[in-house]
Amino acid sequence: KAVAAMARQEPATLAELNRVIGRSEPLVPGATRAVLGEGPEGAAIAIVGEQPGDQEDLEGRPFVGPAGQLLTRALEEAGIDRRAAYLTNAVKHFKFVARGKRRLHQSPTAGEVKHYRWWLMKELDFVRPRLVVALGATAALALAGRSVAVLRERGPMGFGDLQGGIRQGFVTVHPSYLLRLPDAAEKENAYAAFVADLRRARGMVD
Ligand code: URA
Repeated sequence: KAVAAMARQEPATLAELNRVIGRSEPLVPGATRAVLGEGPEGAAIAIVGEQPGDQEDLEGRPFVGPAGQLLTRALEEAGIDRRAAYLTNAVKHFKFVARGKRRLHQSPTAGEVKHYRWWLMKELDFVRPRLVVALGATAALALAGRSVAVLRERGPMGFGDLQGGIRQGFVTVHPSYLLRLPDAAEKENAYAAFVADLRRARGMVD
């Protein structure tokens, strides 16, 4: 009984929470590890992605693959120091299907997002950012608790927390959406709009 009570005890620190997440099994088997959030507690801006990708899964750090590199560049152009921000994901394990040697990303289901949501909420409670930026539909779903039409609703949005409060939030596109756009001119425009969103988000905490 005591052990069961302990297991249910809420983590008191971000490090404790991360130990729990780090020890958890992926909902869908296959991931190498849980990829934890990265950045300082007390960061003014937290940036939430979807889930770790192939490279993040191997390296154990968020946003180090192609989408992460594009995000890093966009943050820099928007005047946001990546190392001063807190970066994390709505879902902590990489989900994929194997195609030969390649591991193809699979979007998490709404049920999977829900499974991880409490952890994300606790994580943000510890980090206490003044603004939470949702990158793409999965992060927006996790943070807003409803499905969000990202291209139509991009911009400031309140996100609920576990205490019934509202966090200052901002919705924008996911950098992997930019990477997937087939047309070069369209891609350039969409990237510029992404940087403009990040600049606007920065303005909310400056
Ligand atoms: N895409 C995400 O949403 N998160 C990562 O960490 C990497 C790619």
